[in-house]
Amino acid sequence: MPETFTRTHYCGDINETHIDQTVTLCGWVHTRRDHGGLIFIDLWDKKGIAQVVLNPQIDELSHQQAQSLRGNYVIGVRGVVRERPEGMVNKNLKTGKVEVYIDNLEIFNPSKTPPFSPWEGQDVSESVRLKYRYLDLRSDRLQKNLHLRYQITKTTRDVLDANGFIEIETPMLTKSTPEGARDYLTPSRVQPHHFYALPQSPQLFKQILMAAGMDKYFQIVKCFRDEDLRQDRQPEFTQIDIEMSFVEEQQVYDIAEKLIKEIFQKTVNKTLETPFPVLTYEEAMSRYGSDKPDTRFGLELVDLSETVANCGFKVFNEALKSGGQVKAINIKGSATALSRKALDDLTEVAKTYGAKGMAWIKIQEDGLQSPIIKFFDPDTIANIVSKMGGETGDVLVFAADTANIVADSLAHIRLSAADKLNLIDPEKSNFLWVTEFPMFEYDEVEKRLAAKHHPFTAPMQSDLTEFENTPPEKLLARAYDLVLNGNEIGGGSIRIHREDLQEKTFALMGIGHEEAREKFGFLLDALQYGAPPHGGLAFGLDRIAMLLTDSDSIRDVIAFPKTQKASCPMTEAPSAVDAKQLKELKLKLDLS
Ligand code: AMO
Ligand code: AMP
Repeated sequence: MPETFTRTHYCGDINETHIDQTVTLCGWVHTRRDHGGLIFIDLWDKKGIAQVVLNPQIDELSHQQAQSLRGNYVIGVRGVVRERPEGMVNKNLKTGKVEVYIDNLEIFNPSKTPPFSPWEGQDVSESVRLKYRYLDLRSDRLQKNLHLRYQITKTTRDVLDANGFIEIETPMLTKSTPEGARDYLTPSRVQPHHFYALPQSPQLFKQILMAAGMDKYFQIVKCFRDEDLRQDRQPEFTQIDIEMSFVEEQQVYDIAEKLIKEIFQKTVNKTLETPFPVLTYEEAMSRYGSDKPDTRFGLELVDLSETVANCGFKVFNEALKSGGQVKAINIKGSATALSRKALDDLTEVAKTYGAKGMAWIKIQEDGLQSPIIKFFDPDTIANIVSKMGGETGDVLVFAADTANIVADSLAHIRLSAADKLNLIDPEKSNFLWVTEFPMFEYDEVEKRLAAKHHPFTAPMQSDLTEFENTPPEKLLARAYDLVLNGNEIGGGSIRIHREDLQEKTFALMGIGHEEAREKFGFLLDALQYGAPPHGGLAFGLDRIAMLLTDSDSIRDVIAFPKTQKASCPMTEAPSAVDAKQLKELKLKLDLS
């Protein structure tokens, strides 16, 4: 690069203190305006925009070259910083009080006309944005997001380092770690027909690091899960993974809260109150119908199963008779806001989550309005209204079904109603630890019990005899999730550190001794050579970054994310491989 174009300042840093100085700026042409004699260029770099002016009387050649400039051309300019004439100050720009009069211009690289401008907020499909991700990444929004993400990782390293943790890398080419998703597999060339699994998490390695006496480990680590993608899920994502020896739940909460508090302070300058509230899984499910409740608003679920027992309404009776529940929410003061159409919309939400319908009662000045009161005697109605704390202006909505469907449908009705009625204060950051999860849930597909967290989570019934004497569905896990405004941003547990208990836990999930040895022999061995009590958790870094940047999707905080179909439109991964590679791997494709 010629010496004249050694950058002296970033565009966005130029201000009044530089007046009369000669500066050299490098960047991308954001806009060019030709005003007859003068050409004005908004020059962009990661720090912002500076206005540079080309005057033929200062340098004829630069002025001439500038006529060919188009958006996204990469140029270097040298010139003198001047105060802008009165009336030309741009208050919207950090650099808006000054401009740079150019005496030398170099075009480093022209640009083809891009499919969209990074800076104009054009309505362009996401697949085009992802194909030309480098253009989109030039936008202020994505620049800010990635910067904030970096602040999170920097703060994480600072806080954990200051608290005696060290970062240790664990393998990417490894063996399956069950976290409930499918594995991404990588074939081995030197051992034909054998595969590595990319880690769903470093769970087993971090436990083994505890057995190794490392005491306090962390890692900012990529995890890979082949699962159905959503706004808050990517096939590869990043965890802030933490593990500690000789700890109970409280010490894990303490360090997690310290870290989150510092991240909020450093990134959005928000002071959080700690400790965060704790709610058991049972209470979360019963009050909110969800194990990740948004507690920024009320609309809690009330169990009416007893109140409506043996009432005249068939739908309720049948649900109760087959072991289900009847629950309701009082959407306070919404009788006017919730039109018939709005109630129909909420009914559709309920149906999406398996409910057969959504009954409702509007409490109005002139009495109750409802499609179901005709089925009830007046006493039952009075009891329902009283149990729900119903007052004039309220709307009661009901779900009757299995406990799961009632919970799921009312949880989503709750969220939709809060959204529709603007009950959510966006300034609030409501954290919540959810604890005491069931150890197992029934896997309908596999027809067996599966771990609700992962199979290495310690039971609350940790004494072997007590463990064996408790029916598996009653066993509770020493697991915890951290929830922020209804999003699961982290989860972890105290682990099983004894081989006998680990084997017994596997057995309850139908994993016999042989299978356990084959899949997890290395862990079972390590547990027998001095594994200390240990526990930890992992945060979803992308989710935290998404929430801190107010983004709708974690794709907005990942430099090169994948689409809903787990593909990358820019690199076109995944792609076919050539026959030679397959041959080396001794693999044949089933092309049927
Ligand atoms: P878990 O599976 O709960 O626990 O994952 C921890 C956190 O990672 C985030 N997360 C994801 N983020 C984006 N895309 C995904 N597909 C995705 N899946 C999970 C979530 C979640 O809370 N080994 C255990 C942790 C432990 O026990 O210490 C684990 O992986 O925010
Ligand atoms: P039906 O008698 O089926 O027309 O239902 C009368 C009212 O009850 C309608 O408002 C339905 O939406 C509602 N409803 C139907 N099934 C359920 C259910 N499982 N839980 C709650 N309400 C229901």
